[in-house]
Amino acid sequence: MAGLSSVLKFGFLVCLILVSPWSVCASIVHRKFTIGTQNVTKVCSTQMVVTVNGRLPGPTITVHEGDNLVIEVENNAPYNVTLHWHGVRQLKSCWADGPAYVTQCPITPGNKFTYNFSVTGQEGTLWWHAHITYLRATVHGALIILPRPGKTYPFPKPDAEIPIILGEWWNANVEDVIAEAVRTGGVPNDSDAYTINGQPGDFFPCSANETTRILVERGKTYLLRIVNCAMLHSYFFKIANHLMTVVAVDAEYTKPYKTDVLLTNPGNTMDVLITAGQQSGLFYIATRVYNSLPLGTDFLNTTTTAILQYKECSNTSVPVLPILPAFNDTATATKFSSNLRSLNPSVPNTVDVEMLITEGLALVSCPNNSCAGINGDRAVGAFNNISYVQPNISILEAYYFGIDGVYTTDFPDNPPTVYNYTATVPLSLWEPELGVKVKVLKFNSVVQIVFQNTGIITIQNHPIHLHGHNFYVLGQGFGNYNGKTDPAKLNLVDPPFVNTRGVPAGGWAVIRFTADNPGAWLMHCHFESHSELGLDMVFVTKDGPRNSDKLPAPPFDLPKC
Ligand code: C2O
Repeated sequence: MAGLSSVLKFGFLVCLILVSPWSVCASIVHRKFTIGTQNVTKVCSTQMVVTVNGRLPGPTITVHEGDNLVIEVENNAPYNVTLHWHGVRQLKSCWADGPAYVTQCPITPGNKFTYNFSVTGQEGTLWWHAHITYLRATVHGALIILPRPGKTYPFPKPDAEIPIILGEWWNANVEDVIAEAVRTGGVPNDSDAYTINGQPGDFFPCSANETTRILVERGKTYLLRIVNCAMLHSYFFKIANHLMTVVAVDAEYTKPYKTDVLLTNPGNTMDVLITAGQQSGLFYIATRVYNSLPLGTDFLNTTTTAILQYKECSNTSVPVLPILPAFNDTATATKFSSNLRSLNPSVPNTVDVEMLITEGLALVSCPNNSCAGINGDRAVGAFNNISYVQPNISILEAYYFGIDGVYTTDFPDNPPTVYNYTATVPLSLWEPELGVKVKVLKFNSVVQIVFQNTGIITIQNHPIHLHGHNFYVLGQGFGNYNGKTDPAKLNLVDPPFVNTRGVPAGGWAVIRFTADNPGAWLMHCHFESHSELGLDMVFVTKDGPRNSDKLPAPPFDLPKC
């Protein structure tokens, strides 16, 4: 990457000298991220947490489209760390993508690595987070991509912009939480609070004095840049007495969509305009979990709050609380997701690779039923009945250097057995194969995937995230995808273009993307526990014919395993 950055610097100079106006030029954004530990107190509990530059949520990075980011990471924490730039296309920079053992070995304690990549063709909000074990619970922050200087938004310029970071908090060390689940074969313990900009709000113990307050002025408009950094929860999001207009999702502009409620999945980012149209007052910004599990409320069914405060209003009045949908209001969740539309779609109209991928949980048997999952088995996740096992060097290095024995290339295009996916599934189909199987793609092939949720253990709305690409969501539905009748219902005109999508519980979703980016790209459930349990797979996209379509050599400082 040293070579690349000098080329970029050279390009930068040429640009300054030869080209005017400035608006076509990009700059280099340099940041230093020091990863360390500190004690943080929330909901009456003090925990040692891992943070970046001592902040929780971590620092917001603001860049312009086209900029080159150089993020120097120094790991002073006692854990292995990697950072992922969630949603960034990483064109020809797969080495900077960050998932542990997929594109890099971890940065070990006391060591450094510099992430060097450009952000091109994307505007809006993305985010960054740790991509190893459970560290992203506290190692995360917003990545804001403004239009290039001189360019404008496709909507009236707001008076101010406000990042809203939705998170989760454990009254425990999160590394212990995941280690315990791995040891016992059970599911990791759920969190103890949900947060908005780091604070749980008025309805959680020991929290009301710290509730996040957002000051607004009557008549002004604000762009809320909402990032769902939660580990295991989708949220409904409302602001009392204020309508919201969604203008971008996952750093892609949408047709403006006016609504009083949002649904946001872990991994999703959403840009939303609001107008401070009330006379004055205090209004709760409130979230509640959307939980698609048919069985239960084994989570905090509590309202998390921040306060939208009109400047002239005193702190002491009682804020207005919005009425949130019930936690299991799938109709509202479905309506919201189905109403998102791309502003500038360019849907590929032919398909080269068609896949049907079942997704959900699974069980692996343990000797003498000694594990903590259902029936004494180990809970895992699986795509097409394959539960992903983390290799001990990165898949990208194995691919690039031709190292055998790290992965196989037989990830199947279809589930190995055809069955009634969403009905009660016979127990004989609950046990997956374990392995590191990748799907190899030719450069520039158009891939269409039908994600089919299964009823193994339980149906559930899993937010599926693909690294290095946005994808079009052509349609979704409940039950089993019907290859005869459902294709006619797909939206090829203006489907949303996202990097993470919840597949309906007991249903399906169809996505399409172009494999135009050489490298190894992880696809996984963005419920962190499910990803840890193996609900992951990897696409390897081969080089294209031109030199500019080839994966460059790894950076000199890429960590070693
Ligand atoms: Cu938010 Cu694998 O990523």
